[in-house]
Amino acid sequence: MNAAQHRLADTVLEATGVTMIFGGLTALNDVSLSLGEGRIVGLIGPNGAGKTTFFNCLTGLYVPTRGSVRLKGTELPSDPAKVTSAGVARTFQNVRLFPNMTVLENVLVGRHIQMKQGPIASLFHGPAFHKGERAARERSRELLEFVGLRDIENEVARNLPYGDQRRLEIARALATEPAVLLLDEPTAGMNPQETEAARQLIFRIRDTGVSVVVIEHDTKFIFSLCDSVSVLVQGEVLVEGTPETVREDPRVIEAYLGKPREEVEAEVAEAAAETTTVISRIDDDQTAVIDKYREDQP
Ligand SMILES: Nc1ncnc2c1ncn2[C@@H]1O[C@H](COP(=O)(O)OP(=O)(O)OP(=O)(O)O)[C@@H](O)[C@H]1O
Ligand SMILES: [Mg+2]
Repeated sequence: MNAAQHRLADTVLEATGVTMIFGGLTALNDVSLSLGEGRIVGLIGPNGAGKTTFFNCLTGLYVPTRGSVRLKGTELPSDPAKVTSAGVARTFQNVRLFPNMTVLENVLVGRHIQMKQGPIASLFHGPAFHKGERAARERSRELLEFVGLRDIENEVARNLPYGDQRRLEIARALATEPAVLLLDEPTAGMNPQETEAARQLIFRIRDTGVSVVVIEHDTKFIFSLCDSVSVLVQGEVLVEGTPETVREDPRVIEAYLGKPREEVEAEVAEAAAETTTVISRIDDDQTAVIDKYREDQP
């Protein structure tokens, strides 16, 4: 097998020349992306670059104006449910859970998509149905354990902290037993500890054999997670390559940050100095409050 053939055999998801035009707006122009088996690919770019639109084209939510999306060589249908059944699962930029269902029920919904349990089977509730249900619960609990939410399976989803809601959405996506998982800003709104936990979780997902595409604004997160990174700017792929090459590319620094690197570094240094001033002022204020409190004590 030569290198080109090997690359072909290795590819799970292949988007070719995807173009999406809304009225007069070209949101995506000739975007191609290749996801190898067991790989994690990152998609970064400024707000409005077309990242979510690209996911919508991959998952059949939008029908691209031009281009094709293939999963293991087979063209994907323009129907989100069929795309999920074919093996592509996703999470959304704005978490989309069933807020009034429990944690476990949310994962079971994903599982039922995978089982394709029809309404007739649920009507008659025969032995096969009950066996299927037991297996579904077992697998759902396994996935909750995997993402670290097993202890709170009976909590109502809307009561979960934001980071847990994001992890639950991932568990639900995994319940469809996908070959490919698409994550749209999985760490948005997370603190540094939660972000690191999310990074480790994505590695573990990859280790189970699922290939992953991640959209994220946090470039440090992306560069330390992905095997390759595509930079989307105004609907076009500006650069694609390993984290090392993308990170150092002056076009990326300028396009992504909107200004030359030196200027950004100076701004960061200035912001850091200001933060230190504010923190020491807060410390002083707190000391004054504590002193006052102690004085007031009998
Ligand atoms: N259904 C739609 N109809 C019209 N325009 C749309 C539609 N969906 C997206 N767009 C436009 O396409 C462009 C790309 O939007 P998109 O949400 O894909 O960007 P993004 O890279 O995900 O941005 P962000 O980082 O803010 O999430 C925007 O100009 C947006 O307004
Ligand atoms: Mg988006």
